[in-house]
Amino acid sequence: MDIAHYPVLKDEVLSLLKPRGRKELMVDATLGEGGHAVLFLERYTTLRLVGLDADALILDIAKRRLAAYAERTRFYHAWFNAFFKDYPGDLDEPDTILFDLGISMYHFEVSGRGFSFRNDEPLDMRLSEGLETSAHDIVNQYPERELANILFELGEEKRSREIARSIVARRQRAPIDTTRELAELIERALGPRYRYGRIHPATRSFQALRIAVNGELVRLESALQAALGVLKVNGRMGVISFHSLEDRIVKRFFRAKNKSCTCPPEQPICTCGGRRVLEIVTRKPVVAGEHERSGNPPSRSAKLRVAVKLEEEESP
Ligand SMILES: C[S@@+](CC[C@H](N)C(=O)[O-])C[C@H]1O[C@@H](n2cnc3c(N)ncnc32)[C@H](O)[C@@H]1O
Repeated sequence: MDIAHYPVLKDEVLSLLKPRGRKELMVDATLGEGGHAVLFLERYTTLRLVGLDADALILDIAKRRLAAYAERTRFYHAWFNAFFKDYPGDLDEPDTILFDLGISMYHFEVSGRGFSFRNDEPLDMRLSEGLETSAHDIVNQYPERELANILFELGEEKRSREIARSIVARRQRAPIDTTRELAELIERALGPRYRYGRIHPATRSFQALRIAVNGELVRLESALQAALGVLKVNGRMGVISFHSLEDRIVKRFFRAKNKSCTCPPEQPICTCGGRRVLEIVTRKPVVAGEHERSGNPPSRSAKLRVAVKLEEEESP
């Protein structure tokens, strides 16, 4: 079986999310091709693993890859925010939850759904067939202002307005159908010398479109809260993020749950009744070492944060 994706920070994840007892349950909320899952199942021989993914095609690859562990695994085709919100009643509470955010090398290199401009593919970018709006719809139908906002907010693209203007001017003549058409248009709009260091001028816009199509940031925010709700007390949650927008959400969430009281500092007496529900294990995010960075380029932007659940959170 050809596998396109190398799991990032594998030694760090294996050690920080190591089971503390026998027959523990781990939820891999972003199973992908099962790279992390296979490592955990191999190393920890009584561990049970639930794996889910929004993408049915990649989930099938993982199922085949993990077939040897059928007795210790279960799979769900689901968005992680929905999965944790409606956590299956017949599953134990997990001891460990792993999120390895974003998309897999499989999506960039193999899926043919237009995640990368290195190949010329139809503009789609949907992880799941269930989504109605594709990147093609956004690029060809959204008003210029909304398009510019997406590129600015989700891609941190400083020249979002110029790009949006060029997209709208071009689509009045003919629709923008493929990744290459869009990438070349962005390159022309920004001028050949406009580069962010070594990255292609279209990189940020492609990231923005993918995040918008799949609602990635909104799903992450609600998934963290819902996952904390089902995690066992003393259980661990690890999150690997790949860009600052994701990492900020994780960092803020962990910090907010690590505080006992959220009343304004000038208030003499606590009225919020806040309790500290998470302890942060990784004071600073764990990043890849030199060896991994040179062998697996996507690891260069990976940041792992881990926290332990201290007690149940009181519902508001
Ligand atoms: C970086 S890959 C995971 C790679 C995996 N850890 C491995 O080592 O093979 C992220 C996976 O999460 C899935 N995904 C992204 N957002 C999701 C969401 N909101 N709910 C469920 N799956 C999601 C993607 O389809 C992708 O397969």
